[in-house]
Amino acid sequence: MKLVLDGDINVYYIQTLCMIFFPGEKFGAAAQNQPGAPELRLKLTKRAKGYNAKATAKFGGNKVVCSRALDFSPYYTEEKTAKMVCGAAVVSAWGELLGYRPSWGMLTGVRPSKVATDLLRHGISKTRTKRILTSEYFVIPKKAALATDVALCEQKMIGNPDPRDCSMYISIPFCPTRCSYCSFVSYTSKKLLSLIPDYLAKLLVDLRAEFALIRKLGLRLKTIYIGGGTPTILSAEQLRVLLDCIAGETDISALEEFTLEAGRADTITAEKLAVAKEYGVTRTCVNPQSLCDEVLANVGRCHTVEEFFRAYDIARNSGIPTINTDLIVGLPGDNFKIFSKTFDQILALRPENITVHTFCIKKAADILRQDSHVYSVRGGDAGKCVDYSQLKTQQEGYKPYYMYRQKNTVGNYENVGFALEGKECAYNVYMMEEVHSIFAVGAGAVSKLVNYQPQEGGAPLIQRLFYPKYPYEYLRDESTQEKCDQIETFYREQGLLK
Ligand SMILES: C[S@@+](CC[C@H](N)C(=O)[O-])C[C@H]1O[C@@H](n2cnc3c(N)ncnc32)[C@H](O)[C@@H]1O
Ligand code: SF4
Repeated sequence: MKLVLDGDINVYYIQTLCMIFFPGEKFGAAAQNQPGAPELRLKLTKRAKGYNAKATAKFGGNKVVCSRALDFSPYYTEEKTAKMVCGAAVVSAWGELLGYRPSWGMLTGVRPSKVATDLLRHGISKTRTKRILTSEYFVIPKKAALATDVALCEQKMIGNPDPRDCSMYISIPFCPTRCSYCSFVSYTSKKLLSLIPDYLAKLLVDLRAEFALIRKLGLRLKTIYIGGGTPTILSAEQLRVLLDCIAGETDISALEEFTLEAGRADTITAEKLAVAKEYGVTRTCVNPQSLCDEVLANVGRCHTVEEFFRAYDIARNSGIPTINTDLIVGLPGDNFKIFSKTFDQILALRPENITVHTFCIKKAADILRQDSHVYSVRGGDAGKCVDYSQLKTQQEGYKPYYMYRQKNTVGNYENVGFALEGKECAYNVYMMEEVHSIFAVGAGAVSKLVNYQPQEGGAPLIQRLFYPKYPYEYLRDESTQEKCDQIETFYREQGLLK
């Protein structure tokens, strides 16, 4: 795409907006000079009272010009006003030229409910928040309602965070085989799976160090999340060793929530979940992704629908109170008929949590290479499937409580966590909304140190600490003590221990 910007404009934001309309589009010199390449010219001008933006979009022999103006207001900084007026002009120009209105309008970020949260925090009513999302951000009405509902639910769950609250994430990045759509780092080959015993041994050492620090600083551990990969790749005995270590370091009964993400049906046994229940796990995930054997085979997910139902029964009979099921909309070979049948079957099981993801392809260019209608910019059936999941959950008494977006999803749709009343996953909300620190241990684990409100109404102050991405590197890592020192310094410098 040829992009010509005039004024103090955030190039990355404009490129991201253009990619909603042209997934996988390139902006380098070669792409600019390609015959027939789309073209966007954008001019930003500052006035005494606000900003003007003029966008000229050209493609396929057609041209649309859109001018927008936005006055300064108490709700937005000057920089944000400039960004918003540019967004409005660009989305309007491409939208008119291509006859397409993206569901999330000019919102490109990971957390579409953030704008709603900010507006609600300014004391703006729910109705007005929805109106602002539709009129100023071009979000379509049903997504504006979704974002507002999620923001309200999150606010209720978050309350007034105590600076001493924290959570813990434990990474088990191993899986029995690799699903072809997955972009998570996870070891699957026989040779790499043989690292599990050494990995576990190192994990326990690091966990003990971090738990000791939590005690030393007098922090209050609210949730623990053991995630993957596929944590139930561990044998029942290995799980017992891990959970026994955790139980020896912290009072499990004082936790608000303790998740052991199981995931793949072919790793779930009654014995493993009995160990989990014995050690106080309160939430687990049994993920079908789709209840169509053909779709599962298409994506190389090596279990059948029948195995999912068997694993779900095991989870239900284990006595672990909250079960989550992950689904993906828009997988290759999926369509509305298959998805709606899948969804009805899941609802019939009445899991406490259902998480609906939109299929995400790492490189958007891959989407374009596929000729299936599912991968068109409008997402084919995916929009209908996402709508179906949101409508049916509402009818069945579930609430959307958590939402995020990834880049390059089919149709640019969102991922939403639904929960029965009072069964929301607290860790998901704490992590996404950055309300307290997450101590993360294991390969690929990223600790997030959070000072929720450095000044009244200010954005949270965040510092991240990274463990090496791959288990091989993690085994050689010696950074834990240094990390603990950095964490302690953060808490002391931020004055969070008073
Ligand atoms: C880290 S994965 C772990 C779950 C577990 N290993 C499993 O596969 O059941 C968490 C969830 O992310 C979702 N996911 C993974 N890859 C995805 C993709 N490319 N697009 C959309 N969702 C994806 C799936 O729903 C998956 O259950
Ligand atoms: S089992 Fe889960 S984490 Fe592992 S490859 Fe499949 S989707 Fe990814």
